[in-house]
Amino acid sequence: MQFSRARNARIRAIQDRDHAEIRRMQRVLHDSIIEGVGMEKIIVCSKQLIEATLAHFESEERAMDEESLGSLNAHQELHAELIETLEDISKDLEKRSIGGAMQLMRFFEGRMAHHLKIEDAIFESEIQG
Ligand SMILES: [Fe+2]
Ligand SMILES: [Fe+2]
Repeated sequence: MQFSRARNARIRAIQDRDHAEIRRMQRVLHDSIIEGVGMEKIIVCSKQLIEATLAHFESEERAMDEESLGSLNAHQELHAELIETLEDISKDLEKRSIGGAMQLMRFFEGRMAHHLKIEDAIFESEIQG
């Protein structure tokens, strides 16, 4: 039981820290679009959010690997699917159109929110089980 709690705590600590940062950056992007701060700033916010998310996926996968979680492969596949969408959106952002930033905002409010809240929490039941 002690062992399970320690394994849980390591992954949860990474998630708590990174997810909070991702949500903070998501709010910054949302506000910059709503407040109309200009495309330059919106692009910077968008790129920062994408970079932080990609770095988080790597940290999370590394932690899951270190804890030898059986669900790692399935989770990597989920990340790969999310990365594909982020890459598509990055291409739209290169065109410096507001459409790419709007798409990114909607992606984080929908699909990514579900991932961070639900799909990322699945490891807890595996460790306890
Ligand atoms: Fe995560
Ligand atoms: Fe994840």
